Amino acid sequence: MPIKPLRKAVFPVGGLGTRFLPATKAMPKEMLPVVDRPLIQYAVDEALEAGIEQMIFVTGRGKSAIEDHFDIAYELEATMRGRGKSLEVLDATRLAPGAVAYVRQQEPMGLGHAVWCARDIVGDEPFAVLLADDFMVGKPGCLKQMVDAYMQVGGNMICAQEVPEDQTHMYGVITPGRRDGALTQVKGLVEKPAKGTAPSNLSVIGRYILQPEVMRVLETQGKGAGGEIQLTDAMARMIGDQPFHGLTFDGQRYDCGDKAGYVTANLAIAIGRADIGDSVRAFAVDLLK
Ligand code: UTP
Repeated sequence: MPIKPLRKAVFPVGGLGTRFLPATKAMPKEMLPVVDRPLIQYAVDEALEAGIEQMIFVTGRGKSAIEDHFDIAYELEATMRGRGKSLEVLDATRLAPGAVAYVRQQEPMGLGHAVWCARDIVGDEPFAVLLADDFMVGKPGCLKQMVDAYMQVGGNMICAQEVPEDQTHMYGVITPGRRDGALTQVKGLVEKPAKGTAPSNLSVIGRYILQPEVMRVLETQGKGAGGEIQLTDAMARMIGDQPFHGLTFDGQRYDCGDKAGYVTANLAIAIGRADIGDSVRAFAVDLLK
């Protein structure tokens, strides 16, 4: 069967973000900025680079800032124009008409449930899932690396990363099969295994390429770890039916769902920036003396 190219991406942004309270009480965690761009903007840029044409956001209550971010802000733009300020900084927030869709997850019942909420917009084609709080920095970007590999092998693909043994209970973990360069065959998957029971330390990171059949599996997927409907559990049920690979991404991942990871990302990106890098680096060096 020919490999169908990817055109659509799902961004589940319906989580509660409890680890970032009170910052996330009235604002989605995906709007937290790394320097001056919200996490969701980096994820959308990564998807565009990978050739994605339609962005599907699975939102929840209190997430309207994301819709506003990818909309035209007439008042702001008119005021900026009036003051002679360039609007170029807003270019990335402009998505083509029809290139963005929103669906509401009424209750945060888990990542699997969030993805399933997008089933009608996804339709009968493969799609990507990007968790914006996993901030991936690479050249090319993480999803582009995955798409390039996917066009060779097809099927389902997840981004895989080795994590310290004492952290595997926080991740979906892979039972690895044959390894070929950056690709590892996925023979099994378990979500948040109890400490000491993980099949390896190769873990699932927030980027996925999935075949539409996963929506039918999710339909009957019961609650898993943490009482949530887990995407990992549905993917595990597809192993054996379709090719399934983990791609080890060439680049840096920052776990921005976690406070330490988020602060680290800000520091790393700030230091690399042409406009503020020198002063931030000088301050950091001074601070650590
Ligand atoms: P997390 O478990 O990391 O996010 O979900 P969370 O629940 O928002 O955060 P904490 O743990 O309370 O701080 C991973 C991703 O899945 C989305 C989240 O928005 C995040 O991008 N998600 C999770 C949903 O969209 N819906 C859900 O029901 C659960």
